Amino acid sequence: MTPPVDVSRLIARLDALGRIGALAGGGVSRPALTPADGAGRALVVGWMRDLGLEPVVDRIGNVFATRPGAVPGPSVMIGSHIDTVATGGLYDGNLGVLAGLELIAALNDAGIVTERPVTVAVFTNEEGARFQPDMLGSLVHVGGLDLAAALDTVAVDGARLGDELEAIGWAGEAPIGGVAAAAYLEYHIEQGPVLEAEGIEIGVVEGVQGISWTEVTLAGRASHAGCTPMRLRRDAGLAAARIATGVAEIARDIGGDMVGTVGSLRLRPDLVNVVAESAVMTVDLRHPVEATLAEAERRLAGLIARVAAEETVAASTRVLARFAPVAFDRDLVGRVEATAAALGFGHRRMPSGAGHDAQMLARVCPAAMVFVPSADGLSHNTREFTAAADIERGLRVLASLALDLAGRVGDVPRAEEIRG
Ligand code: GLV
Ligand code: MN
Ligand code: MN
Repeated sequence: MTPPVDVSRLIARLDALGRIGALAGGGVSRPALTPADGAGRALVVGWMRDLGLEPVVDRIGNVFATRPGAVPGPSVMIGSHIDTVATGGLYDGNLGVLAGLELIAALNDAGIVTERPVTVAVFTNEEGARFQPDMLGSLVHVGGLDLAAALDTVAVDGARLGDELEAIGWAGEAPIGGVAAAAYLEYHIEQGPVLEAEGIEIGVVEGVQGISWTEVTLAGRASHAGCTPMRLRRDAGLAAARIATGVAEIARDIGGDMVGTVGSLRLRPDLVNVVAESAVMTVDLRHPVEATLAEAERRLAGLIARVAAEETVAASTRVLARFAPVAFDRDLVGRVEATAAALGFGHRRMPSGAGHDAQMLARVCPAAMVFVPSADGLSHNTREFTAAADIERGLRVLASLALDLAGRVGDVPRAEEIRG
C-alpha cells in the first residue's frame, strides 16, 4: 500500500532547501558545516517539528527525527544528507531526506499508525569534499570512526570539524549510535547516465563500489622559468601532471568499471614564471571489486615513485578515505525490486558509483537504496536535475516499502470517530 504521498509538496521543499546556498545561475553550495549547511539544517529541522516530530542531534551533528510506532524499538530509518559539494545541485542527498519527511507527512495525513517507529535521518558530511572521509557522520554513527578523531578532522580550508560544528550550532548532545534501525532505506538520484540511457524508471541498488581517496604531496624547488634548463628542474607541477595522466592510463588499462580521477590539484607558488615548488593533488579510484581496486592502488603507488624519481621531487601520500565495496542486504534489495514491480515501474538492478550513507548503515542493519534517473547523467554539477514524474515514482517505491517494513497497525481515530 502506498501512503498518500504528495510529490508537489516534496518538490516545494526541495526548491526551498535549494534556495539556501543557491548559486547565481543555478545550483547550490552548502558544504558540510558551513553557515549555509547550518541554515539548511534549521529549515529541515523546522519542517520536522511542524510534522510533530522531536528531532535529536547527536555529538557529530547527525539529526534523527522519529515518528513513534505502536511498539517501541528499532525504527525503519530513511536517511541521506543535505550537505552539498561547493558546486552541487538540488537533489543529491536532499531528495532522500525530504522524501522521508514526505512519507511522515503522508502517514500523518492518513492517520496511519505503524507498528515500528519511522525515523528520518540527516547525516553530517556525506560529501567529503570539505572534510575527509566522506560519509563521516554515518561512519561515526555505526562505530566505524571514533568521535574524537572525527571531531579533529581538518578541512581542506584548514578548519577543524569540531570547531565548525560548534560554530554553526549543531554539536548536539545525543549519544552516538543512540537511534537504532531495524532497516535502512535511502532514496537518491542515480548521479550517472544508466537509467536515462536505458529508459528505466527505478534503479534497484545492489551495492556500492569500493572507494579509495589519496592525497599526494610533491615537493620540488621553485626556480626561474626562463633561466632554469629543463634538465636541472625539480618541477612539482610537471610531476603532478604526469601523475594525473598516469591515473587515467591506469583506469583505462584496467578497463571495465575502473575509474580514476584527479579532482583537485594545487600548485605553489602558482605563478606564470616560477617552476612549481610544490603540488598537492587528490586521486579518487573506484571499482566494484576489492582486488581490482587494490591492484589500481598498487599501480598508483608505483607511478608516484617512478615519476618522483624521474622528476627529482619528494613524494608523500596520505589516505583520505578507503572503503571496500559493499553489497546490500539481499532480501531487502529483493523487496525494493518487488515493490517497483508491484507499482508497475520499469526497473533494473545496478551498482552505485557514488558513496552513500547506506553503505555505512549496512554494517549494522539491512540497508538498500532506490535510484531514479539523473538528467544527462549529471551530478556534482549545478545543472543536476530529475523530473517530477521520476521523483514521484521513486517516492512511491520508498513510501510503499517503508510502510511495509514498518507495518501498518491501524488508523488513528478521527475526532468525530472518538466522539462516536
Ligand atoms: C560522494 O558523493 C561520493 O563522492 O561518492
Ligand atoms: Mn549523495
Ligand atoms: Mn554527492
